[in-house]
Formats: sequence, structure tokens, C-alpha cells
Amino acid sequence: MTARQQLTQYLTGKWIPPVLAAVAEFGIADELTDKPLTADELADRVGADPRALYRVLRAAASIGVFAEDSDGRFVLTETAELLRSGGPGSMRAAARMFALEPFWTPYARIAESVRTGEPAFASTFGVSIYDYLGTHPDDAAVFGATVATFHGQAMAPIVAAHDFSAYGTVVDVGGGSGELLIELLTAYPTIRGVLLELDAVLPAARAAFEAAGLIDRVQLVAGDFFTAVPAGDAYLIKSCLHNFTDDQATRILRAIRAGGGPVLVAETMIPAGNAPHYSKFDDIEMLVIAGGADRTEREWSDLVAAAGFTPREVVQCDERFSLLVAD
Ligand SMILES: C[S@@+](CC[C@H](N)C(=O)[O-])C[C@H]1O[C@@H](n2cnc3c(N)ncnc32)[C@H](O)[C@@H]1O
Repeated sequence: MTARQQLTQYLTGKWIPPVLAAVAEFGIADELTDKPLTADELADRVGADPRALYRVLRAAASIGVFAEDSDGRFVLTETAELLRSGGPGSMRAAARMFALEPFWTPYARIAESVRTGEPAFASTFGVSIYDYLGTHPDDAAVFGATVATFHGQAMAPIVAAHDFSAYGTVVDVGGGSGELLIELLTAYPTIRGVLLELDAVLPAARAAFEAAGLIDRVQLVAGDFFTAVPAGDAYLIKSCLHNFTDDQATRILRAIRAGGGPVLVAETMIPAGNAPHYSKFDDIEMLVIAGGADRTEREWSDLVAAAGFTPREVVQCDERFSLLVAD
């Protein structure tokens, strides 16, 4: 590929997420579960303009998401299967989330973030992302479903990265709807869990623990991780601290430190060098949307040390996540 072709591909990459968001929004992958269908048949089922839907599906098929057969019917490909609803591996919610207004519009002002270091989200919407989600339940539901599924493949390797057997109670700080804690409680039948979350997230967490048959072993606590955390023997915190500045993250870690036990920070850590890594662009999402940052292993260690912890080890869990253990 020439440099011009490569740059063209990068620049026009912006066309892809909205196409995937549209097919996810209309549930096209679910419609194709039983049999291939034409765009006309699909449009009839989902309430779309047939020609417009055909154009979107043709574009998606050109990048391997669905395929059009010789009879003009669309079929699921391995990638398109991931856009089906339900199940821990579904990426349908993520496909919708990345093109939602709060996660898309602020990028129009990325130069402002680069100039000031501040998230363009704040100047676009006048509030932080979590305050925005607190008043936009539909967007919050898509965000919550994305949080529950997008990193689903990382939960087991994160739990496997540390020996939790010495702990009676583990607190998952900002634990979302509980996927990591469910993995932990399943792996360690004697551990009890506490999930700290914003009030609005707890119904989804309750439903997830009930579905997993673990509701009797967990306490769901509504609270603010900047203020205080419930008592426990160890504290897990995954994918939360990167949403915040160093000062804010240190405040959260100090609240955990006041709670007692060791802290286990699961985050994506930026490797040295020029090689591509998920964290390098996730970091840009943090810059523009959340106002936080992805960090290197050294930076994460310094951050927990600033809150009074002693970093002990960093274990790489999978290609995205590492677990920093500090006490
Ligand atoms: C990116 S999600 C990560 C969720 C979960 N740990 C995971 O990795 O799947 C960050 C979570 O922090 C929660 N959160 C944000 N602000 C919070 C606060 N002040 N106190 C407690 N939880 C908060 C959000 O509701 C959200 O579920």
C-alpha cells in the first residue's frame, strides 16, 4: 500500500463506525440469524428505507461485516456474528455506543483538547461524561451494555492473574454491572463480593448477579468512589481510573487506601515503542471524552504510590489489560 493509500484509509476510517452503528441499531445481525435475507426483506422487518439499508449493508459487506450472496441476500460473517444481541461476547452495544452523540460529537473539537489538555466533551456538553450519562438514561443504557460486554474476554485472564484465595471479601470499586466480580466469585466459591457503583447502575448489576446465581454472595452499594469505599480485604478497580486526571485518580486511590486492604488495578497499559496497541487510541478517547488518560506501567505505579500504596507487581493479563497489585 502506498503512503497515500494508507493515509486515505485512515482518514476515511471515520465512515466505518456510523455504518456499524446503523446495522447495530436496526438489529440486522439478529434478523439474519436464521436465514439470509435481501435488503428489501430486512428493510420491511426493521422499518428502514430499502435502498438506504442496501447501501449501508453493501458498505459493511465490503469490510467483511456481512456478505452479499449471488442472489442479493445478506448472510452473517464471523465478524457480523459479533453484532448479534445477547451473550457476553456481543459487540452490538459497543457498535452503537461509539457513534452515539456524546461519544462522537466532541471529536469535532479535538484540536481544542490538544491545545488545552481538557476534554472537548466538557465544552461540547457543559458537563462531564458521567454527569451527562446521569441525565440521559438511553445513552447510559447503551454505555452500560458496552461496559458489560466490550472487555468481556478480559475478565477471566484478570482473575487468573492473581491469587485471591487469602481474601474473604473483595470490593469491586466502580464495578459496572458486575462482570469482573461475577468471574471472581465463580472462580473462588468462598469469597464474598461488594460492588460499589453509582445508584443508576445498580439495577443492571442486580440483574446480572441474579442471572449468575450469585446475588446471595454480593452486596450492592450505591456510592461515590471519590468519597469513601466499603470495607473489604482487597479492592479491585478496573477501567475506572483511566477516566480521570492524576489528581482525581489519586483521590479515588486515597479513598481505597482509607478502606484498608491491597488494591488491584486492572487497566490497559501503554507499551513503549511505536507498535500499535489498543491503549494508544483508548488514551485519545480519554483525552477527548473523559478527561483522563491511559498510562504506562511506570505512570500507573507512580499514581498508586502517590496515594500511599506500595506497588508490588504488574501482571499482563491479555493483549489489552494488565493487573497492578499494590499494598
Ligand atoms: C468504564 S466503567 C468500568 C466498569 C467496570 N469496572 C468494568 O471494567 O467493566 C467506569 C464505571 O465507573 C462508574 N463510576 C463513575 N463515577 C463513579 C463514582 N463517582 N463513584 C462510583 N462509581 C462511579 C461508572 O458508573 C462506570 O460503571
